[in-house]
Amino acid sequence: MTTVLVLNGPNLQLLGVREPDIYGVATLADVAATCAKLGADLGLRTDPRQTDDEAELIGWVHEAFERRLPVIINPAAFTHYSYALRDALAMLRAPVIEVHLSNPAARESFRHTSVVSGVVTGTIAGFGLQSYELALRAVARLLAETAASGGAGAAPR
Ligand code: DQA
Repeated sequence: MTTVLVLNGPNLQLLGVREPDIYGVATLADVAATCAKLGADLGLRTDPRQTDDEAELIGWVHEAFERRLPVIINPAAFTHYSYALRDALAMLRAPVIEVHLSNPAARESFRHTSVVSGVVTGTIAGFGLQSYELALRAVARLLAETAASGGAGAAPR
C-alpha cells in the first residue's frame, strides 16, 4: 500500500481555534482522521505530520524524495516565502499536491504569491477540510494513471 505524506506547516496545529471564520472549525486531528478514512477507501496509507519548523518540514520532503512518496502539503505561511521549501519540493518525482484550507488569492496581497506552486503537480485551495480530500483523490488518480501507463507517469511532472 502506498504511503502519502500529509505535511502541514506552521500554526496548523491550532486549527479549530485559529481564526475559525477563515480556516473553519475542523481540527488537525479531524484532518488526519478524514485523510485516514478516505485514504483507506482509496487504498492509500496516510502519514500526517505538522511542524512550525522550516528545517523539519524540509527534512520530511527529503524523506519523501528518498522513499519516492507522494506528498500532500499545506505549507501555511511558508507558501509565500520559503525558497528552501520550493527547492526541496522541486526534487520530488511522485505527485505533490499543494493544499490550502482558505483561498489565498481572495485574501491579503502577500498571500497571492505562492513560491511553491511552480514546482508542485497541482494546487487545491479554498475548500476547507475538503481541500485535503480532493488532494488525496488527485493523488490516487495520478498513481492509478501512472500504473496504467506502465510507470511512465501520466502526470505532467
Ligand atoms: C493557509 C493559507 C496561508 O496563507 C496561511 O499562512 C496559513 C494557512 C491555508 O491553509 O489556507 O497558515 O495555508
